[in-house]
Amino acid sequence: MRRPVIAGNWKMHNTVAETTALVEGLLATRPPASVDVVVAPPFTSLPAAAMVAAGSPLGLAAQNVHWETHGAFTGEVSAAMLVELGVGWVIVGHSERRTLFGETDRTARDRARAAQRAGLTVIYCIGETLAEREADRTFAVLSSQTDGLGSLDPDRLVVAYEPVWAIGTGRTASPEQAQEAHAFVRSCLERAFSPAAAAALRILYGGSLKPSNAHELLARPDVDGGLIGGASLDVDSFSAIIRAAADRAAGV
Ligand code: 13P
Repeated sequence: MRRPVIAGNWKMHNTVAETTALVEGLLATRPPASVDVVVAPPFTSLPAAAMVAAGSPLGLAAQNVHWETHGAFTGEVSAAMLVELGVGWVIVGHSERRTLFGETDRTARDRARAAQRAGLTVIYCIGETLAEREADRTFAVLSSQTDGLGSLDPDRLVVAYEPVWAIGTGRTASPEQAQEAHAFVRSCLERAFSPAAAAALRILYGGSLKPSNAHELLARPDVDGGLIGGASLDVDSFSAIIRAAADRAAGV
């Protein structure tokens, strides 16, 4: 049984004060021990989140990392800089990085490798656009986005399937669509790694995941958790999704 992961991608939300309040609120709900709960605040809020979460099982993720260890890379942050803050996870290759900031499969893989070398666990994002889905290219896109992941360490890798058309749109993949894509991604990971490694890898769903649809999505056999944007910014909705993941872990 794969241990569920529920990760909140805060994107460009929350000041230091707001971060402190949100992490305190989340910890006060006593998240169940059967779920890996992770939050990804903006860089500026990571130290505050680390301070509040110290001694708790809450995982801390960054939203990006550079592939070099140091140098003249204005605006970038290295993996060692994140580790120093107590960060254990990093989101790589998010579709917003791909569409708005020129991220490619190549740069995403380079970031992921550097992050793993420093000991970080990578949440590696993939997913098709609406045009690609409508052109029946979903599997081809997922196949090429997972191509080359074999150079990563599967023990420090979580894959997030985020159909671009479902991100921030209120439109969610149906449980059947999610399961179909996740099973296909797992078959790609079998080729990249091994059947045993692929069977152990957690594949998260992302895209308008919320309390009202979490239970049915997380009940699917290959949906091992979620990467959540909007609904992770509110303690009640995020903790409701965490409880749905705990139900999955308990086989409810
Ligand atoms: P929403 O949950 O707001 O659709 O965002 C999903 C996402 O992009 C998480 O990385």
